[in-house]
Amino acid sequence: MNWTLINGEFVERSNAKVDIEDRGYQFGDGIYEVIRVYNGKMFTVKEHLERFFRSAESISMSLEFTIEQLATQLQELIVKSNLKLGIIYMQATRGVAPRTHAFPAQNVPSTLVAYTKELERPLQKLENGVQTILVEDIRWLRCDIKSLNLLGNVLAKQKASENGCYEAIQSRGQEVTEGSSSNIFIIKDGVIYTHASDNLILKGITKDVILNLCVDNGIQVEERTFTKEELAAADEVFLSSTTSEVMPVIVIDGNAVNNGEPGLVTRKLQALFEAEITRQCGTLK
Ligand code: PDD
Repeated sequence: MNWTLINGEFVERSNAKVDIEDRGYQFGDGIYEVIRVYNGKMFTVKEHLERFFRSAESISMSLEFTIEQLATQLQELIVKSNLKLGIIYMQATRGVAPRTHAFPAQNVPSTLVAYTKELERPLQKLENGVQTILVEDIRWLRCDIKSLNLLGNVLAKQKASENGCYEAIQSRGQEVTEGSSSNIFIIKDGVIYTHASDNLILKGITKDVILNLCVDNGIQVEERTFTKEELAAADEVFLSSTTSEVMPVIVIDGNAVNNGEPGLVTRKLQALFEAEITRQCGTLK
């Protein structure tokens, strides 16, 4: 069976329905998370659920459950769905109410939906690296909120896709921010640089795991803005996300990075990241 968790109940996917006046559907008035599942276990679940609640708080949306209750229900969803390797997608919206921009007057309960999807690790891309293009970052100024409003990201990813690329690297003028659905890192003379987790990017959970791995393993890392020029001159470039892990970038706008090969520092981080997955979720098959 294909189970969906909807407002605390498990229903078969085809019976999971949302009202057309749900504010997520009409305004994108809601938030979401994507959590990786390895060996039937959620990776960095605490961090994802904390960010979910933080996103809700940032848009003054109350949730009718606790982190612990949600974690229990997600684990149940994984077991019911018999998911071993894949993701959980979950979102919460400001509920169902007659359409008007301002929040509903009465206390309308939020709508929570979560479901699982089987998804392999992108092993070939992790081995060979991926191509990217540069696009202007046209998004709003609260990219730290994991909002359902993803039009800017959607348009950026579409441009990448139309150009045969895996990801679009966004910049505001000269300053590189993040990918359409990933964080971006450059390596120069052995030092890793990545945009600070401020309002212009999403504070990636994978990014934070990588930063901690760097600190624990004596790899020099600095959170600061870098320019398109620095990106072009980097020794190595990689991107990170829940589904992409530590993904080598080998081409930017048609120009090869590190002669089109994943670099040594990126390889080291990939190994450390896999070890962290194993530590939390058991040996990868
Ligand atoms: N995207 N930046 C943006 C804009 C993102 O959408 C994502 C994740 C990230 C990386 O965050 P994390 O490491 O926590 O996955 C950075 C998810 C996977 C998605 O929208 O599918």
